[in-house]
Amino acid sequence: MSVPAEARVVVHEDAQTLAGDVASMLLDRLESAQDRGEVPQVGLTGGSIAEAIHREVARRAVDSSVDWSRVVFWWGDERFVEAGSPDRNARQAREAFLDGLGVDPAHVHEVPAADGVATAEDAAAAYSETLRTHGADFFEVLMLGVGPDGHIASLFPGHPALDVTDAIAVAVHDSPKPPPDRVSLTFEAMDRARAVWFLVSGDGKADAVAAALAGGDVHEIPARGVVGQDETLWLLDEAAASAL
Ligand code: 6PG
Repeated sequence: MSVPAEARVVVHEDAQTLAGDVASMLLDRLESAQDRGEVPQVGLTGGSIAEAIHREVARRAVDSSVDWSRVVFWWGDERFVEAGSPDRNARQAREAFLDGLGVDPAHVHEVPAADGVATAEDAAAAYSETLRTHGADFFEVLMLGVGPDGHIASLFPGHPALDVTDAIAVAVHDSPKPPPDRVSLTFEAMDRARAVWFLVSGDGKADAVAAALAGGDVHEIPARGVVGQDETLWLLDEAAASAL
């Protein structure tokens, strides 16, 4: 494993500018990977700034050369609810951009839903097997929203999932952010990313951003737990950067 890249901070005027810039960066990165003959693997995240980015990708895709049939999509976490629930990160992403891009359905790997398997543990085991079987050795880019408590994906402060080292994905219960039952990639799986992009908007996250960049215990600030092999970016709007 290469030496993790130092985190870089890029501040954008506001959430809309942040969403547009990240969308352009993603399109550029996918084009470059495909120009190298690769089939890039993208780790998506849930949340509001992610949704804004997804919509900007859909809007800007028409001007890009990305071959959407040659991009593979995963999720860093998912809520363990029915597939049709508006709470599903995958449903939000499909509606915001995936369904309109002509992606190969076989390249969109959703975490199993609560109407497909019995427990979040079953969903985590199945998702781990799918990633083991169909994943590449790395994510081209793993996008992560950050919560006001410094959580990423569904790895929350003080939760046992933070210390799991022998699994790709784990079940999370009692999530402080509803819904309570989820599935999350582990730090070990997240570290297999060339680029890690933290996507953060709003002054409610400013303290978490400052704490994560200042160092500290990953059990208190889970965002401390992930770095990209080549690139680690904190992509912020001015409000989220206001405590730096
Ligand atoms: C989830 C997300 C979660 C999210 C952060 C930030 O499933 O809830 O993956 O990790 O990215 O909570 O969400 P906002 O951008 O909406 O604040």
